[in-house]
Amino acid sequence: MSGAVNIIALDGPVASGKTVVGLELSRRLAFRYLDTGVMYRAITWLALRCATPMWDEEGLGELAARHPIRLGGPNSPDGMQGEQVWVGEHQVGAELRDARVERQVSLVARVPQVRRALVQQQRILAKEGKIVMAGRDIGTVVLPCADLKVFLSAAPEQRAARRWRDLVDKGQNVDFQQVLRETKERDEIDTNRADSPLRPAGDALTLDTGQLTVDQVVEKILEQLRRC
Ligand code: CDP
Repeated sequence: MSGAVNIIALDGPVASGKTVVGLELSRRLAFRYLDTGVMYRAITWLALRCATPMWDEEGLGELAARHPIRLGGPNSPDGMQGEQVWVGEHQVGAELRDARVERQVSLVARVPQVRRALVQQQRILAKEGKIVMAGRDIGTVVLPCADLKVFLSAAPEQRAARRWRDLVDKGQNVDFQQVLRETKERDEIDTNRADSPLRPAGDALTLDTGQLTVDQVVEKILEQLRRC
């Protein structure tokens, strides 16, 4: 199975299950896993640190072009799992999930100059193959020749409930309605931006993860791979 499959694109909106599914899928296939969202978060963190305003597209583009991102982690000798992230000389981690980054990341990600810099790095990382790459535009823009494209979806309420549960488990006191509002806002910006909007590739396998367990989603993807 999947002898010919080398590159898997995994796209979908906020909390659609990309990370858990992508990690499990890459483990089962012995592929690398790259969460491209981490790269947009890292540039957002840097922009906040440097006080670069979110409307300054040139400034944000410069930051992305001048600060290549490196990903690493204890489980990833080839540096791709993303537990450790360097943006230029700065090492970042849990900060990438801070509320400030969370609120601004879609504004940074809609800037074409930022996307150009990051997409170039993502394509280089995919060159060696045997990779599951997760994001918003992987099947449509970054790797349109991927061997398999998967688009995960679920109702906003279900996705917001997952995010809310994650935050509560981390000890944060958050209001569900606020999480739902922020989920919808990020979806709105990601879907309606001019450059690389969030949408399934025409040839993607689309799965609604609302009623499925992680294992069921992974099994459905593996089933599709057996047919490739
Ligand atoms: O984990 P979650 O789905 O909440 O978000 P993420 O994958 O970490 O991505 C954070 C943000 O980065 C998204 O809301 C998009 O605005 C942006 N992004 C993007 O534009 N293109 C990608 N390939 C990946 C992320």
